[in-house]
Amino acid sequence: MTRFTQIALFALVALSALFSVVRADEEVQIDGKTVKVFDSGVGDQDYAKGAGESHDSFKFLAGKTNHRMAINRVKHYTVKPDATDKFWKDNIKITWYASNDLKAPACGDGTWDPENSSHIGATSVGWTNGPKCGEFVRLCNSKVSRCVHVRIVDQCAGCNDDHVDLTKSAFQKLATTGSLEEGITTHLKMYRSEVPDLWDKALFGPVKLRN
Ligand SMILES: *[C@@H]1O[C@H](CO)[C@@H](O)[C@H](O)[C@H]1NC(C)=O
Repeated sequence: MTRFTQIALFALVALSALFSVVRADEEVQIDGKTVKVFDSGVGDQDYAKGAGESHDSFKFLAGKTNHRMAINRVKHYTVKPDATDKFWKDNIKITWYASNDLKAPACGDGTWDPENSSHIGATSVGWTNGPKCGEFVRLCNSKVSRCVHVRIVDQCAGCNDDHVDLTKSAFQKLATTGSLEEGITTHLKMYRSEVPDLWDKALFGPVKLRN
């Protein structure tokens, strides 16, 4: 092999390795569980459509890449808690906040800002035995048989214990009327929940937070 061929071959191998890394879903181990991390780029935009939004905002498309399938399989709410969820607290109150208030969350990584379409929440600092920074909770409103997986990433100055301030997208799924106008919804159940199998950064932010 000439020196040139060697260099060309090396460059080709390096390039193809680079592309396969970029294309692959990132897989991380969290608490002994394999989590597939991807970024849908849109999060959960259903809230804009009002009360009649569909269960899945993406249709399942057979024959697509893993990445597409991962996006397609994300459900933005479920009708009941997951089998691995552990009941935590009753009588939880939820409200919503938006836009600039979402920016630079207290437990963020310094670069990420949640959006209206994220599934994150804020709680009071003084909530003894409340959710910690970065933890996942499942909130369920039994009146409408809906549960939403939410990551707690921010602090809520105006919140007392048993109160979770949510994004519009998470709130609207849980509101009894399905409307943001509801403002406050009460009597939800909160569960301790594992990290999702499919982690959409647009919904939950980066895996690694500042802490
Ligand atoms: C987020 O929600 C707020 C409050 O309803 C709204 O004013 C703002 O335009 C929304 N942002 C986006 C990007 O849709």
